[in-house]
Amino acid sequence: MNHLLSIIDLRSVIWIRVFLGEKMAKVTKEIVGENVGKIVEELNKALADEWLAYMQYMLAANIVKVPQVEGELKSIAKDELEHAEELTERIIQLGGKPIADPKQFYEKTNCGYAVPVEDTKKVLHDALKGEGCAIRVYNKVAKLTKESDPVTYQLMLHIMEEEQEHEQKLENLLDWLKE
Ligand SMILES: [Fe+2]
Ligand SMILES: [Fe+2]
Repeated sequence: MNHLLSIIDLRSVIWIRVFLGEKMAKVTKEIVGENVGKIVEELNKALADEWLAYMQYMLAANIVKVPQVEGELKSIAKDELEHAEELTERIIQLGGKPIADPKQFYEKTNCGYAVPVEDTKKVLHDALKGEGCAIRVYNKVAKLTKESDPVTYQLMLHIMEEEQEHEQKLENLLDWLKE
């Protein structure tokens, strides 16, 4: 009997969660309005950038020969992966589908991909270009979402702040290499 009750409990909990989930998605949609398709598209393009940025930093960190640079690149790579996760989560909350095929990384990217090389300065200059592009993209999507989608807007500010920190770190490394 106890066993049966716990099965019933579990099923009702699942149904309540499905029901609430649908309701929450509906309200989210209501708040975001007709812009939702455009926002999901922009978030997917940014997601392509983040996957490529993660790959570029992770590979570059393993190729460069300067330990201080390697450490910074590894730490930035971690942030880019986290950004990819945050964007994926938001796309799903908005009822969209996050890109799932690596072919789409190249199709959707705003900022492209620079193949990492052994030349440390080139790696840093390429990364700096990518960060500048990312900051512009998040600034654009922040403007797009400011009025209609405050949750995405906050996420854009959060990611943009970290991209600005990356830009600063890379500039510092380039200055330090010049000395
Ligand atoms: Fe990022
Ligand atoms: Fe970054």
